[in-house]
Amino acid sequence: MAICASTKLHLSLKGKGHAARHVYVCVARSPEQAVERDQDGSVSTVKEGTDKRGQYALNNGFLTSSSDSYTSEEDDSQFFPKRIAFNYGFQAKFLRKDPTVPGNVFKLAFENFGREWTALRRSYLFAKLEKININKIEGGPLGIVSVYSSRGFVLFLRGFDKLLQLYDGLPKVKPDIQVVEEEVDELQKTLKKLTLSNDAVWEREKNRPPVEAPWWILGPYYVLCWMLDVIFENRPIQRFWFLETVARMPYFSYISMLHLYETLGWWRVGAEVRKVHFAEEWNEMHHLKIMESLGGDLEWRDRFFGQHAAFFYYWILNLMFLISPKVAYNFSELIEMHAVDTYGQFADENEKLLKTLPPPPVAVDYYESEDLYMYDEFQTSRLPETRRPKINSLYDVFSAIAGDEFEHVKTMVACQQLDTVIVSPHKTKITGVLGVL
Ligand SMILES: [Fe+2]
Ligand SMILES: [Fe+2]
Repeated sequence: MAICASTKLHLSLKGKGHAARHVYVCVARSPEQAVERDQDGSVSTVKEGTDKRGQYALNNGFLTSSSDSYTSEEDDSQFFPKRIAFNYGFQAKFLRKDPTVPGNVFKLAFENFGREWTALRRSYLFAKLEKININKIEGGPLGIVSVYSSRGFVLFLRGFDKLLQLYDGLPKVKPDIQVVEEEVDELQKTLKKLTLSNDAVWEREKNRPPVEAPWWILGPYYVLCWMLDVIFENRPIQRFWFLETVARMPYFSYISMLHLYETLGWWRVGAEVRKVHFAEEWNEMHHLKIMESLGGDLEWRDRFFGQHAAFFYYWILNLMFLISPKVAYNFSELIEMHAVDTYGQFADENEKLLKTLPPPPVAVDYYESEDLYMYDEFQTSRLPETRRPKINSLYDVFSAIAGDEFEHVKTMVACQQLDTVIVSPHKTKITGVLGVL
C-alpha cells in the first residue's frame, strides 16, 4: 500500500530578513519512496524521475514569500497598521448571528428573499449613474450598445418601480446608509484603490510551468477566466469574493460523491481523502469570510451571480466526478493554480498599500487561532504545525491566502495520482512516529 508524501524538493530560500532554510514538498508516496524530514518538521520523500509536482514548488516565486511567513523571525520593530475591527460585508450582518441550528427552509427562504428583494430595488433606485463618455467606451460599437442598453434598463426599472410606488403597488424603500466610524470609512475608501491587472495575471501564468490538462478541460477553464476578467474588471475584492464562493464547491462535491460511494458500498478507501477535502473546504470558507469582511458581497448582482454559479457548479462537478475523478481533480488544479497567480499578483501589485491596512478580525481569528488542527489537515504536503502565517497587515492576509491556494494545488495534484493513497497530515505524523513511514 502507498501512503502520503512525495518528491524531494530541496531549495534554499533567502527572503527579506529570513534565514536561509530548506523547503521540502511532499504530496503522495508509494511504498518504495524513502521519507525524509526537514528541520522544520515537514516531510519529504525521494522519488525517482521527474514529477510535475516538483516544478510547482521550484518555480513558483510566490511560494517564497507566502511560506516564509510561517517560520520567519519577524522583525517586531517594523511598522504594522493599527488594528481596528471592520466587517462590512452584506451577509456578515445576519449570517454570523446565533443560533447555530437553522430554522425551517421556508422561514430562511422568506427572510432571504425579503432582504435580497429590497437590496435589488436599492441597486437600481439609488445607483450612482455617471455621465457616459462615448470616447472612453471600450469594445467598439458592441461596447457602446451594451453601455447604453444597460443604462436604459436601469432607468426603466427605476421609473417602473417609482410608478408602482405611486399607486401603492410597492412599498417605499430608503437608501441603505451605513453609519461607520471615520477610521472604517477611510479604510473603505482605501480598499477601493486596490488594483488587479488581468494582463499581469496572464503574464504570470505564462511564465510558470503550465498545468497539464487536455484541451476540453482547458477550454472551459479559459472561458471561465475570461468571464471573470470582463465581469470583475477593476473590482478585485468582488472578484475574490466570487471566486471563494465557487471555490468551496469542488471539495463539497468530492465529499458528496465519496460519501455516496461509501453508502452504496462501492468504495471506502477514500474516507481519509474526504477528511482532507473537508479541511480544504473549511479553509476556503475562511477565505470567503475574509472577502466578505472586505465588502466583496456588497453588490446585489455579485451575490446573485456568485451564489447561482456556485449552485450549478456543484452539480457539474458531481457529474464530472462520476465520469472521472481524475478529470475533476485536474480541473480543480487549474482553478487553484489560477487563484495562486491572481492572489500573488494582487499582493505584489498592491504591496505598499496593503501593508498600511489592518487585517480583518476574521483573518486574525482564523490564522492565529489556538486550534489550527483543521488548518493543518488540508496541507497534505507537510507535517502539522509547519506552516503558520503571521498576520500583521492585509498584505499578510493575501500572502497567506495565496500560500493556502498553493497547498490546495499540491493536494489536487496528489489526488490525480491514482496509484497512491492520500493521508491526512495528522495521520502522517502519527504513522511517522510509529515508524510506518
Ligand atoms: Fe480560496
Ligand atoms: Fe482555492
